[in-house]
Amino acid sequence: MCGIVGYIGKRDAVPILMEGLQRLEYRGYDSAGAAVVSGGKLAIRKKLGKLRELRNSLEETPLPGGLGIGHTRWATHGQPSEINSHPHADCSGDLCLVHNGIIENYQELKKQLQAEGHDFKSQTDTEIVAHLVEKYYKGDLFAAVQRALLDCEGAYALGVVHKDEPGVLVAARCGSPLIIGVGEGEQFIASDVPAILKQTREVIYLNDGEVAKLTSEGVIVTDLKGNVADKEQVHIDWDAEAAEKAGYPHFMLKEINEQPRVIRDTLRGRIAKSGDNVVLDDMNISDEELKGIEKIIIISCGTAWHAGIVGKYMLEEHTRIPVEVDIASEFRYRNPILVPGKHLVMSVTQSGETADTLASIREAQRQGVKVVSIVNVVGSTIARESDGVIYTQAGPEIGVASTKAYTSQVTAFYLFTIYMGRLNGTISSEKAAKLLAELQTVPGMIEEILKDQDVILECAEAYKEAVSALFLGRSYNFPSALEGALKLKEISYIHAEGYGAGEMKHGPIALVDDKLPVICVAVKSAVYDKMVSNIQEIRARAGKVIAVATRGDEDIHRHADHVISIPQISEMFSPLLVAVPLQLFSYHMAIARGCDVDQPRNLAKSVTVE
Ligand code: F6R
Repeated sequence: MCGIVGYIGKRDAVPILMEGLQRLEYRGYDSAGAAVVSGGKLAIRKKLGKLRELRNSLEETPLPGGLGIGHTRWATHGQPSEINSHPHADCSGDLCLVHNGIIENYQELKKQLQAEGHDFKSQTDTEIVAHLVEKYYKGDLFAAVQRALLDCEGAYALGVVHKDEPGVLVAARCGSPLIIGVGEGEQFIASDVPAILKQTREVIYLNDGEVAKLTSEGVIVTDLKGNVADKEQVHIDWDAEAAEKAGYPHFMLKEINEQPRVIRDTLRGRIAKSGDNVVLDDMNISDEELKGIEKIIIISCGTAWHAGIVGKYMLEEHTRIPVEVDIASEFRYRNPILVPGKHLVMSVTQSGETADTLASIREAQRQGVKVVSIVNVVGSTIARESDGVIYTQAGPEIGVASTKAYTSQVTAFYLFTIYMGRLNGTISSEKAAKLLAELQTVPGMIEEILKDQDVILECAEAYKEAVSALFLGRSYNFPSALEGALKLKEISYIHAEGYGAGEMKHGPIALVDDKLPVICVAVKSAVYDKMVSNIQEIRARAGKVIAVATRGDEDIHRHADHVISIPQISEMFSPLLVAVPLQLFSYHMAIARGCDVDQPRNLAKSVTVE
């Protein structure tokens, strides 16, 4: 799960590579490297640690030249170290490459290549590709890469250069994301669009099994056998500023604050003029087919899985279609029961590249079941491979901890629920109009929550030394508790558990003592009284209660140590509001503890390997 970039053109490659790598650092950041071809020589520079180490080194001793590749690494095979970081060269040092993915048959290939006399320096799977290209190189890098990849199994996005071909950059893709940026007399490659937005808005998406030859004049794309592919150039509308921090100290805080806009954007154009129905343009599944659906299976990972659980609650309540929610890494290996025509699989993913989610939708499609995906990144693999897509319109999410992607995913579920309910007649026109009108009040309510963070700051100060925390919620806010706990774990490194509050007596109550902060979602809802009883049980054991409650609920103050108030809204929509103070709580806790909010240890933004 690394980030790769490449440049060929008349400008100096290194500043362009560094700018691109900075935008990709969210994909992994245990080491970084770059290589430049110039004057018949190939120069490689690698540094352990964050990108700034590489930047400092390149500033001290520059590598001039107009052809280069760069890489930011998140280790999969081999410890983070300078030797294991990319680019990796062949025996001669004449060619090198950057790679994102995993070559699954690398051990077998390595043995074979060693027997043929190749000398390996690193413990990576990547290095074997460099040696394979060397083996097949006969003066044509493009052809050698095509041939080498026929021997490789697994996932890759590659950028390859050779010292004797200063006018050629070769790229390839199978299972890991890679795009080509098309400029005027210059071309780019990158793992993701934000990396090249400053340079160009014209993009070619490579498909699995495609190899590209980039020269300053143009791009040729073929399959591994050399058959030329007809590729479409896509214009990207994203604002480059959208990928910047916009004055906030961290991307995470910026993204939390963007949520009112993101929800508005996700709703934009999707509410019928009549106000009582939903318009979903990219569904590509007929209404007739959708009417025949008897079960929905939602598949996703992490935060997106939590959004899926909120989706289950609303879909079952309003459409009466049974819904199963599965973690993608479990679904793909558990021989799921899928019935074509009667079952619909829905995947939820910000990146659209998560390996387990992708494998799951492929399995569903292999069994003949249609897939609708809630995706943020337009043109991502999952977006392209799904039968239907609901884009979330969150824009690039750079902070590793997902915030705006989550609320936009939940918003997309409201739209889908109303769409399905109108189709199968479980949601009347009046009810749909009422639900949609209320949904549109959410962004304004989030703006109110964002204005007053005093209690959240007070809680962060009071509990910043905590070693553990418990998050409790019920019904629609059970997934809110799971998500609150995940956020705290991720960015503040405090052990946290999320539970359905009714489960408390079945185990977690043993953890409660006067040091344990227990964050209870106790908004006005059908389960409010039950939540208050749970809170009393925690209080009786000296636990510290932080309640997220409905504004105007005076009674809750008698039961809680701290009360974070949010505006009154129907229970169904409350997860959108509840998410925001829980995100802010994690953010302020992490800041109070001096943690790196945007790049928490051991995590990467996009999990493109198993
Ligand atoms: C948590 C987080 C992860 C992702 C998960 C799925 O803050 O970001 O748990 O939600 O890795 O990623 P996507 O949505 O890209 O499939």
